[in-house]
Amino acid sequence: MNFKLKVWRQANPDAGGKIETYEAKDIPSEASFLEMLDIVNTGIIESGGEPIHFDHDCREGICGMCSLTINGIPHGKDNAVTTCQLHMRKFRDGDTIFIEPFRARAFPVVKDLVVDRTSFDRIIASGGYISVRTGSAVDANAIPVAKDDADEAFDAAACIGCGACVAACKNASAMLFVGAKVAHLNKLPQGEPEKEQRVLRMVQQMDAEGFGNCTNQYECEAVCPKEISADVIAKLNRDYLAASAKEAVS
Ligand code: FES
Repeated sequence: MNFKLKVWRQANPDAGGKIETYEAKDIPSEASFLEMLDIVNTGIIESGGEPIHFDHDCREGICGMCSLTINGIPHGKDNAVTTCQLHMRKFRDGDTIFIEPFRARAFPVVKDLVVDRTSFDRIIASGGYISVRTGSAVDANAIPVAKDDADEAFDAAACIGCGACVAACKNASAMLFVGAKVAHLNKLPQGEPEKEQRVLRMVQQMDAEGFGNCTNQYECEAVCPKEISADVIAKLNRDYLAASAKEAVS
């Protein structure tokens, strides 16, 4: 398969960026999107050029490192897949494909398609953990957890923190990410003791990082490769209001 790529190139965070055009030739239909870029980069390097920089790690849809906006959609238009799981057979031979970084004020461009998502790390460090002693591994049923709560926590824990939700949102809101991270701990007994301080701190850090507010656009849910439901945002709001009220009277 052959494609024309329109790729965002930016030498460093302070440089102006621009779209440059590349030909991707003889790409196997079974190649992943990242493998297609590998092939293009091999050609660029062989001709003495600077390869296109992009993030990746597991290439299995687990780590959340791959972060490309493909034809205007974070991770591309295929449903519930990360960029590394998107295959070139999903495109038509001869397509022109626009490739840009995830764009948000809180995700500054480092180089080309690589963005700095350490703002997410700082949100997690502010409260996305449990510090109660859980001891060594116990029998699976020793701590009773209601089936509905376990399912909700598990679904929320599927978030891989890729940031597609932020990149898709016109407000660059991180509430799907923060909602998922809060929900997966707050729903479980182990997360209960720090429930209030967790949500207060993580929302405070989210605001400090410059992420916008949710205005119910649902773009985040639509592009999430792990199909995290926007319900976690409603739960985040409920937990935040309850924690704020409790803090106000204490
Ligand atoms: S490289 Fe790990 S999720 Fe894509």
